[in-house]
Amino acid sequence: MCGIVGYIGRKRAKTVLIEGLKRLEYRGYDSAGLAAVVDGHLAVCKSPGRISNLEALLAERPEFAESHIGIAHTRWATHGAPNEVNAHPHLSDDKQIALVHNGIIENYSPLKQLLESKGHVFVSETDTEVLANLIAEFYRTSGTLELAVQQALREVTGTYGIAVLSVREPDRLVVARKGSPLIIGVGQEEYVVASDASAIVEHTANVVYLNDNEMAVINGCGMRTITIDNVPVSKQVEQIEYSLEEIALGGYEHFMLKEIFEQPEAIRNCLRGRLDLREGRVQLGGLEAISRELVKARRVIFTGCGTAWHAGLIGEYLFEDLARIPAETEYASEFRYRNPIVEFGTAVVAISQSGETADTLAALREARDKGALALGIVNVVGSTLARQTDAGVYLHAGPEIGVASTKAFTCQVVVEALLALYLGRRRYMSQEYMAEMMQGLLAIPDQITSVLEQSDQIREVAGKFIDCENWLFLGRGYNYPVALEGALKLKEISYIHAEGLAAAEMKHGPIALIHEGMPVVVVTPACMTYDKILSNIEEVRARGGKIIAVATEGDREIHKYAEHVFYVPDCPKSLQPLLTVIPLQLLAYHAAVLRGCNVDKPRNLAKSVTVE
Ligand code: G6P
Repeated sequence: MCGIVGYIGRKRAKTVLIEGLKRLEYRGYDSAGLAAVVDGHLAVCKSPGRISNLEALLAERPEFAESHIGIAHTRWATHGAPNEVNAHPHLSDDKQIALVHNGIIENYSPLKQLLESKGHVFVSETDTEVLANLIAEFYRTSGTLELAVQQALREVTGTYGIAVLSVREPDRLVVARKGSPLIIGVGQEEYVVASDASAIVEHTANVVYLNDNEMAVINGCGMRTITIDNVPVSKQVEQIEYSLEEIALGGYEHFMLKEIFEQPEAIRNCLRGRLDLREGRVQLGGLEAISRELVKARRVIFTGCGTAWHAGLIGEYLFEDLARIPAETEYASEFRYRNPIVEFGTAVVAISQSGETADTLAALREARDKGALALGIVNVVGSTLARQTDAGVYLHAGPEIGVASTKAFTCQVVVEALLALYLGRRRYMSQEYMAEMMQGLLAIPDQITSVLEQSDQIREVAGKFIDCENWLFLGRGYNYPVALEGALKLKEISYIHAEGLAAAEMKHGPIALIHEGMPVVVVTPACMTYDKILSNIEEVRARGGKIIAVATEGDREIHKYAEHVFYVPDCPKSLQPLLTVIPLQLLAYHAAVLRGCNVDKPRNLAKSVTVE
C-alpha cells in the first residue's frame, strides 16, 4: 500500500505533488520521491523516510520549480529495503521513462530475466523498475508512450496503479489501474491523479474513477480513457463528498475498524504469488537462500510480544500439526534473560508488526549469538528486525495505524501457515493434503468478509454487557491463543478487565471469579474438543455466567448453551483462528466505542515499543 500523485496543469507541479504526498502519507511512509520533465530530461529527487525529508531535499533543487507536469510517490515497501535506490519514481535504464507504482508485479522475476537478456540494467531491487524498463523496451518500437504502456501491461501479472512520464512526450501523463485504486481529479485546465481522493480534494471535487484494466492519457488540454486493450471507454465525472479525514479513514470511524475490515484484502496481498497451485508448492522468496538449512531444523522457537506473541502460539500448533517440527513460543522479554538452550538445528522465528520492538530485537540477537537460524515474520519492510534476520517473510498487510493490532495478527498467522506448509511439503506432507490446505487458505478472505457482516449484531451484544468490568475468554487447541487475543484486545482499547484461558484450566482457579451476569466468551468452532468445551460452558452457567459463543455455521446445538452466538464458516481446523478472532476484534472495538474510549490511541499504549 503506497501513495501515488501525478499532476499536469498551470500550477507548479512540485507544490501540488508534495501537498498530495503529505495527504497520502498515512498509506505508507518509508521513503518518497518525485520526478518531473525539466529542460528535456527527467529530473528525479528521492529520499528515505518521511515526506518532510523529500521536501527538504527539493528545496535545494531549483530546477524543479518551473515544471508543470510531474509524478510522485510515498512508499510502503514490498520489494527491497526502504532506501533511496528503491524509492519511486523509477526510471528506465535509458532515462526516457519515469514511473510510480502502487501494487505488486507478481511475474517481475521472469520479466527481469527477459529484460536483462536484452541488455537492460537494473539498479534497484523493485518490481517497479522492471515495469519501467518493460515500457521502455516496447517504446523502442511502438512510437507512443500510450501504446508502450498498453503492451507492457498486457505482459504483467499482479496489481498496479501507475503514473508514467516520458521525456519524448513531455506534456503527457499516462495512468492505468488494475487492483490498486487510481482516481483522476478533473480541474480547470489541470488534472491531479492520485491513489486516493485525499490528494485531490483541495484542487477539485470532480473526479473520474478508473476501473481495472483501464488507462487514461492526459495532456494539458484534455483526457482520453481507454482499456489496456486499446478499446475507448467513456467515463462519468463524479463528485467527491468527503472531508480529508474521512477519506484517509476510507469512510470508517476509526483506523482500527478500517483495518479489521481490510483483513480480506490484506490476506489476499499476503498470499499473492506465494501459492503455486499447479505444482502444489508454497513459494517464499525470502527463504530461498536458507531453505535447505530450514528444512533440516529440529526445533522452532517463536518469539514476540503482545499480539505477535499470540500469533506465535498459533504458529506452535501449526508447526507441530502441519510441519511435524517440535515448536514452542517464548515471550521475547523472557527469552533473553532465561539463558535459553539453543541446540544445533534450532530456528528462532521473531514475529513483529513494526520490526522495531526492543524486546523482540534483543531476543533475536540472543538467538543469533547462540547459533540459531534467525528468521523474521515482519510487516515493515527494511525495519531493524528485517535487517537483522538471516531470512524472513514479509506480511504485505499494509500500514497498520490503530495501536491495537488486527490485520497484522491475521497476516502473521497466514505467514505461519505458509511456512508450516512450505516445510511440511518438503518433509512429509502429501500433495493431496497440501492442495486441500491451499484451497482452505485461498477461501479465507471471502470467509472473513462473511464474518464481518455480523458487525452490527456484535455491537448489540457488546452494548448488553457494556457495564461489566470483568470478562473471561475461553478456548482450546488452536482457539486457546484466540481467547488470549480476544481478552487482550478488550483490555487494550476498552480498559475492561479480561482474561483469556485454556478452557479446561478454568476449573483450576479462575472459576472462582465467575458470578451472576459475568460475560464469558467461548470460542468453540467444530473441533475434536467441542463436547469438552460444552462441559466447561455448563460449569460457567451453573454459576450464573452469561455465554457468548463463537461457533461454526450450522451449529444449532450451541444455542442451548449460549445467550449469544457469532458464527464463522467451516474451514480446516488449523486455519480456524483466522476466522474466530474476527468477532472478538469487533467485540472489543464496539465495546470501546460504546464506552467512549480513544480506540486508535488507547491510554498508556504505543504502537511500537522501542524500550525494554
Ligand atoms: C505494542 C502494541 C501491541 C503489539 C506489540 C508488539 O505493545 O501495543 O499491539 O502487539 O507492541 O508489536 P510488534 O510491532 O512487535 O508486533
